[in-house]
Amino acid sequence: MDFLIKYNDALSNHLEDAVTVKEPSQLYEPVKYILTLGGKRLRPVLTLMTADFFGADYQEAMNAALAVELFHNFSLIHDDIMDNAPLRRGEETVHEKWDINTGILSGDAMLILAYQLFEGYEPELFRELAKLFSKTAIEVCEGQQYDVDFETRDDVTLSEYIKMIEYKTAVLVGASMQMGAIVAGASVACKEGIYNFGRDLGIAFQLQDDYLDAFGNPDTFGKQVGGDIIANKKTFLYLTALQNSSKDEAKTLQHLFSINPKDPSEKIKTVKEIFISSGAADAAIKEIENYTQNAFTILEDIKISVVNKDKFQEFGSWLMKRTV
Ligand code: IPE
Ligand code: IPE
Ligand code: MG
Ligand code: MG
Ligand code: MG
Repeated sequence: MDFLIKYNDALSNHLEDAVTVKEPSQLYEPVKYILTLGGKRLRPVLTLMTADFFGADYQEAMNAALAVELFHNFSLIHDDIMDNAPLRRGEETVHEKWDINTGILSGDAMLILAYQLFEGYEPELFRELAKLFSKTAIEVCEGQQYDVDFETRDDVTLSEYIKMIEYKTAVLVGASMQMGAIVAGASVACKEGIYNFGRDLGIAFQLQDDYLDAFGNPDTFGKQVGGDIIANKKTFLYLTALQNSSKDEAKTLQHLFSINPKDPSEKIKTVKEIFISSGAADAAIKEIENYTQNAFTILEDIKISVVNKDKFQEFGSWLMKRTV
């Protein structure tokens, strides 16, 4: 996808300048650290790409794109504390490298730095962007709370799960794209359409994240494989496996998701076997395709050129096949 190179290059330059390490260095070093670890930078790329496709100079969307990436990284630092995760992007998580308090405060600072970036826009644009940002950020918090609540519940439904991932992940993807459209002065219908496109792509993205959490390659995935199983996360894989397995297997699964063994390797192994034998693993792949297809259907009605629609589709198809 050569068409992404220009956005990625522009982002790298600006992200390096967005945060400088000053005193107190304990606050800013973790910020620099997580940003330097990179990541895929999908959300800010989508902001720039959307602004471009709706006819703006994509550089005008740079502050919004940086804000989205800072917010995302803030949410990852706090998420890793909440999920007790040791690895992020192939390196130690912030709270492991430093400590939990450092992770909390550096994360807070990133959220505020993200907000500050909107100050570069004129009042009307500022208002619309900040309003969308606030709405999205509070939904992400709600999604994260559901995610944690579900760890200790044994009656979570599939529709509750979809709602949870829509909030914790998909709304930010939708908002990242809508910000690009806002900067470009797109119509209300276009702003809504592109948000919905991003949201459905985001649901597919989180389904894929959950799939990779169980079945990703530990050498390349960059996160602890099996982390969701260790934390008793009620993912699509778990809920579908529970629904589709025999009584005995379902009982085993429920039991394994009610305990927290010191050495989780046996638990992870057995759970993954049930995810496969019950057909849940295959069903997850199908569901990722379904949501990606829904997104493409939404795209059809959005008023941008066919060439640019094809690029969005290429992006969506590539996301579906990702391994990290
Ligand atoms: C991880 O997001 C958190 C989720 C919402 C699944 P990414 O997979 O985009 O993480 P990076 O930024 O590329 O590391
Ligand atoms: C993360 O979901 C969502 C947010 C950070 C808001 P996950 O907990 O699945 O993300 P990873 O797998 O740690 O990246
Ligand atoms: Mg996590
Ligand atoms: Mg989490
Ligand atoms: Mg995950």
